[in-house]
Amino acid sequence: MKSNIGVPFFTDFPIDFDLEWQMSRAEKYCLINLLQNIKPSVAIEIGTYKGGSLQVLNEFSKQVYSLDISKAPKQFLAGKFPTVDFKIGDSFLILPDLFIEIEKEGKKLEFILVDGDHTTNAVKKDIHTILSYPHKNPITIILHDSFNPQCRAGIKGINYSQYPQVTYVELDYIIGSFWHNTTYREMWGGFAMIRLDPTNTKPALIMGSQERLFKRVYFSSMHLIKDRFHFLVPIKFWLFKKLGLKQKTDMYESFD
Ligand SMILES: C[S@@+](CC[C@H](N)C(=O)[O-])C[C@H]1O[C@@H](n2cnc3c(N)ncnc32)[C@H](O)[C@@H]1O
Repeated sequence: MKSNIGVPFFTDFPIDFDLEWQMSRAEKYCLINLLQNIKPSVAIEIGTYKGGSLQVLNEFSKQVYSLDISKAPKQFLAGKFPTVDFKIGDSFLILPDLFIEIEKEGKKLEFILVDGDHTTNAVKKDIHTILSYPHKNPITIILHDSFNPQCRAGIKGINYSQYPQVTYVELDYIIGSFWHNTTYREMWGGFAMIRLDPTNTKPALIMGSQERLFKRVYFSSMHLIKDRFHFLVPIKFWLFKKLGLKQKTDMYESFD
């Protein structure tokens, strides 16, 4: 996805345009406004990359933990964000101990941005790990790229009734985008929102308010073909590695 948010962009928030931010204009407006209102005591970000979204979490939260499987973001950003606690590794492995650490220190986790591995299974693992923990206070969770079919399938693949803390799930809190030119026809972006409240006693409200739009666009997208051949992805990775070819995900490993 292009990092350029487009101008004009109206906000009091002092955006650092040198930090690549992989979100659409609507998502940026939303994230700034959400965090400005929630003002989290503690926030967690899964997927640091080049610090675009981190700058907003950092501005409005008392403390931020930013997780990435690659060590490159920490090397690149630690100087710029000295109070952020960068954690390197697979998010679903880091999260359980991190939740315990936050609670032991008597802090209140109030916001999570999920924007790491976007494959169906990884998204499911992240959500399951978050929802399985007995959180002690309400949390707002934003999941980026809910318009991407792989990612959306992960969010939809959770049986939310198993988690009584869940009060609200909306796949299309902010609708995503169809990026297309002659060779590229992909669906990305969008925010899903999940809200947790440990005192909840009612069934969760679960919505995909733009599901019809999602389905219409899906039939014009490359995902229709790509999803059917998804089982070949590990072979593609292996082949590219053998041939020493660059892959799309290499950009997360090295910022050269
Ligand atoms: C789309 S980028 C994040 C963009 C950033 N939130 C922003 O808006 O500018 C995804 C990031 O997730 C990281 N990532 C991928 N798989 C991960 C995993 N299993 N655990 C933690 N981070 C992961 C990648 O290395 C990459 O830096």
